[in-house]
Amino acid sequence: MDGLDDLKVKYLTAVAGVTDEAALEDLRVAALGKKGEISALMAGLGKMEPDQRKAAGAMLNVLKDEIDAALRAKKAGLADAALDARLREEWLDVTLPGRPRPRGTIHPVSQVMEELTAIFADMGFAVAEGPQVESDWYNFDALNIPPEHPARQEHDTFFMHRDAGDDRPPHVLRTHTSPVQIRAMTEQGAPIRVIAPGRVYRMDMDQTHTPMFHQVEGLAIDRDISMANLKWTLEEFCRAFFEVDKVELRFRASHFPFTEPSAEVDIRYSNVGGQLRIGEGDKWMEILGSGMVHPKVLAAAGVNPDEWQGFAFGMGIDRIAMLKYGIPDLRAFFESDLRWLRHYGFSALDMPDLAGGLSS
Ligand code: PHE
Repeated sequence: MDGLDDLKVKYLTAVAGVTDEAALEDLRVAALGKKGEISALMAGLGKMEPDQRKAAGAMLNVLKDEIDAALRAKKAGLADAALDARLREEWLDVTLPGRPRPRGTIHPVSQVMEELTAIFADMGFAVAEGPQVESDWYNFDALNIPPEHPARQEHDTFFMHRDAGDDRPPHVLRTHTSPVQIRAMTEQGAPIRVIAPGRVYRMDMDQTHTPMFHQVEGLAIDRDISMANLKWTLEEFCRAFFEVDKVELRFRASHFPFTEPSAEVDIRYSNVGGQLRIGEGDKWMEILGSGMVHPKVLAAAGVNPDEWQGFAFGMGIDRIAMLKYGIPDLRAFFESDLRWLRHYGFSALDMPDLAGGLSS
C-alpha cells in the first residue's frame, strides 16, 4: 500500500503543532473518525485480494495505532498545560494573615431577649409581636384605660403627628408591650400562652429611665390559671435567667387598669462600688408589673371572661440585663459607645440555649 508514510508524517506533524483541544478533536475526526482518511482506507480493504488485504490491513492497523497514540499523548499534554495555567492564574498566598475577626458584639439587650425567649419557650410560651406605632385603642382603650383615665397621663406618651383633617384613629408610640395581649388574643383566642418582647417609648430620661426601652409581655390564659401559676412562672424564670439558686422576689400589691388583682415584683440585689449583684444585699429593684387579666380586657379581645382567665406581666428587659450582667447605668445601653459594647457585648457565635448554658 502506497502513501502510508506520507499520511503518517502528515498527521503526526499536525498533532505536534496543535495547541488546543478543539483542534485536536478535529484532527482525530479527520483521521480516525467514521469518515476519516484512515477509516476510508480500511473500508477499501474489502475490495482487495486476500494476500494483499492481509498485508495492507496490518500496515493500516499499525498506522492507526500510531496516530491514535499521538492524539492521546497530545490530549494529556494539553490537559496538563491547562491545569498548570489555571494553577498559575488562581494562585493564592496561603501564608497571608486571615481576615480579622469581626469587632462587633451582640448587645446585652439582644442577648437577654434570646435568653428569655429560650426560657419561656421551654415553658410553652410562643413569641407574639405587635407594631411600635400603635393605635390608641390597642395601647389604652382595649386595656381598660378610657380617654379620661389618669393612667394615660402617667404613661408620658409620645403622640404621632396628625395633619388637620386626618380622621384616622390617633396613633402613639406604644408605651408598653401590653397592646400585644389584645392582638394575640384577638388573633388566636384562648387558651393562649405567649410572650412579646420589644421596644416601648415614654418621655422620660434619667439614670434608670430612657425614652426608648424594652419590655417583655407575658400572657397565659386558660380555664383555671391563677395568681399561684403567675408566682411560680416568675420565680422559675428568674432562677433560670439569673443562673443562681438564690433569687429573692418580693410581690407588692399594686394597681393596673388591665389587671385585677395586680402586683409589682421587686428583686433583691446589692450595689457595691457600682457592681450590681443579684440575690444578696439590701436593695430592691422593681422589674415587672403583673396580675390577673381584667375581664374587660378579655372581652375587648373577644375572649369570653366567664369561660377563660389568666395572668399577664410586663417585665423590663433592660433592668434584668443590668442586674444579670452588673451594668450600673441604663443610659450607656443606648449610647453606641464601642468601648462599652466590647466590654459588655457577647460573641455572635454563642447563641444562648438552655442545654448549652444561657450566657456561658
Ligand atoms: N404594662 C405595664 C407597664 O408597662 C406592666 C404590666 C403588664 C402590668 C401586664 C400588668 C400586666 O407598666
